[in-house]
Amino acid sequence: MMKTLALYGPILAFFFLSGAHSAKITFTNNCPRSIWPGTLALDQKPQLSKTGFELASKASLTLDVQAPWKGQFWARTRCSTNSSGKFTCETADCSTGQVTCNGNLAIPPASLVEISIAARGGTDCYDVRLVDGFNLPVSVATRGGTGKCKASSCPVNVNAVCPAKLQVKGSDCSMLACKSACIAFNQPQYCCTGPFRPPKSCPPTNYSRIFKQQCPQQAYSHATDDQNSSFTCSGAPAYVITFCP
Ligand SMILES: *[C@@H]1O[C@H](CO)[C@@H](O)[C@H](O)[C@H]1NC(C)=O
Ligand SMILES: *[C@@H]1O[C@H](CO)[C@@H](O)[C@H](O)[C@H]1NC(C)=O
Ligand SMILES: *[C@@H]1O[C@H](CO)[C@@H](O)[C@H](O)[C@H]1NC(C)=O
Repeated sequence: MMKTLALYGPILAFFFLSGAHSAKITFTNNCPRSIWPGTLALDQKPQLSKTGFELASKASLTLDVQAPWKGQFWARTRCSTNSSGKFTCETADCSTGQVTCNGNLAIPPASLVEISIAARGGTDCYDVRLVDGFNLPVSVATRGGTGKCKASSCPVNVNAVCPAKLQVKGSDCSMLACKSACIAFNQPQYCCTGPFRPPKSCPPTNYSRIFKQQCPQQAYSHATDDQNSSFTCSGAPAYVITFCP
């Protein structure tokens, strides 16, 4: 043991001093029922220690992230395990048949939180993203850090004002989620593809305006929504993601 420390101590110290910057991400469930958050590391980053877990109402859980890191977070709702042991959720399922998402994306519609944590000295970017639709209210805020460090949030229930063509209903007819127009219609003007592909113009549509009106403090309701509302912070040691803020 001593020998191992003697050998690796300097190497560990080097890593420490050279700035393997890390951040804590805390998930809090203020919803009245259990939710099942999912985590996804993008850009070939290693997946976090948990890629999916149950979070009871009023419970919190914290995960560590090693910078640089980029990924997404969401919460699944109305989940259950059937008699053949398959775990599924009525919204934002990640298609693994298990509580863990293991590198899978959420099936839209899902309210997404995106966080990109820069290496030491760089700027973190984060936002609540409704380009893939909405399933439940969510916010992301920093703790500490320097710069704008504004919270990004969609705190209201967009399901309550979701147009009929975008609605996703449960077997009991309750409103579960609201698709984005891109997901619902897959047309260039809604998805900002083809003739609307950036940097060409992709103006807001009557559908994207609904999301933006409900949740002005989110970065994107539409793929080319103005970049000026994006959320940045430097060196934030912690993030708090709150569902039903
Ligand atoms: C359990 O769920 C899986 C995945 O949705 C489905 O294929 C299977 O038929 C279900 N089993 C039962 C017994 O309902
Ligand atoms: C949005 O515009 C389309 C095309 O003009 C129209 O068919 C649709 O009903 C409008 N939807 C809403 C929610 O206003
Ligand atoms: C973003 O900010 C820049 C500089 O402040 C400004 O010139 C530009 O018009 C803004 N874009 C939008 C879409 O508001």
